[in-house]
Amino acid sequence: MKKITSLDLFAGVGGMRISLSKAARRLGFYDQCKLYSEINEYSIQTYEANFTKTKLIKDIKSVKNSEISDKIPNHDILLAGFPCQPFSRAGVSNRKYLKRAHGFNDKDQGDLFFNILEILKIKKPKAFLLENVQHLENYSNGQVLDEILYNLRKYYYVPEPKILDAQDFGLAQRRRRIYIVGFLEKKNEFQYPEPNFKKVKVRDFLDKNFDKKYIISDKLWKSHQERKERNKKNGKGFGFKLTNPNEKCTRTISSRYYKDGSECLIFRGDTRNPRRLTPREVFRLQGFPESFKFPVSDLQAYRQAGNAVPINVVEKVCDSVINYLFKNKKNLKKVA
Ligand SMILES: C[S@@+](CC[C@H](N)C(=O)[O-])C[C@H]1O[C@@H](n2cnc3c(N)ncnc32)[C@H](O)[C@@H]1O
Repeated sequence: MKKITSLDLFAGVGGMRISLSKAARRLGFYDQCKLYSEINEYSIQTYEANFTKTKLIKDIKSVKNSEISDKIPNHDILLAGFPCQPFSRAGVSNRKYLKRAHGFNDKDQGDLFFNILEILKIKKPKAFLLENVQHLENYSNGQVLDEILYNLRKYYYVPEPKILDAQDFGLAQRRRRIYIVGFLEKKNEFQYPEPNFKKVKVRDFLDKNFDKKYIISDKLWKSHQERKERNKKNGKGFGFKLTNPNEKCTRTISSRYYKDGSECLIFRGDTRNPRRLTPREVFRLQGFPESFKFPVSDLQAYRQAGNAVPINVVEKVCDSVINYLFKNKKNLKKVA
């Protein structure tokens, strides 16, 4: 079986790696991740619980440009769901409020793209897949995305990025994300995958039995309702979202879900307090398999699941990337 090697940067708990692995195996390849990079100790704990021992570089910024060729292994596909907070709507407004820099000017997280670029320049993998929030497209009137594309296109064939929504790929969650792929060699036009529009409902992703601790307290329920009322009076649209299990999708579940669960409170009838999703349900809404382990607190698990990529979508994108790279290979099967 032919091998596909990869690098899993900003790995989180490995959503990109699972997606690539699923697509590769389905297409008859064997995949090997040569190195992952993740700075958060709790995410590393979860990652290590789910994958075979893999070389780790915690802070990718610790690798100087002059060290890339020695410290970073050769690989076929570079995966990077780079931090989105400096570009996301919520992250930008939070940073403005705290008078902190955002976008590329955030020297902590915003300029990590340039670390990816250096690795691409020096290691020249055959392809890459980047993922970020949809808002990256409009951030700073599109200038940041233009700069990203301009830089990548100096070395790679990079088709126009694509916004894909998890709810169109069999997950009951609205999660629109931008995907950017690139290839060292241009053969023909790359096509992003078409949605399968598989019909699902939120209830398909819920536990049959859940711990009572996920039902929100009278106090929190009251404060949610009061805040919504206040926001309505002040002309602000935001507040909690009560989600009926029969709905076709939840709102985007963010890494802040643990705070008060306002993006998605599961409706349990008019006379009963709603409940939060459990961490397992959030992982499920992101397409993670039931076998996925998260040996961390609920708070960390919510953060990890909310930060992750939607597996169903990334698996399809990886399928298209592998097909593009190995197009002439016979017997390639498409993901159903
Ligand atoms: C949006 S999440 C990535 C999700 C992940 N790609 C997946 O497949 O589910 C971004 C991750 O980058 C990590 N990170 C932030 N700065 C980093 C750095 N300097 N080096 C390595 N990882 C970093 C964060 O801890 C976070 O887990």
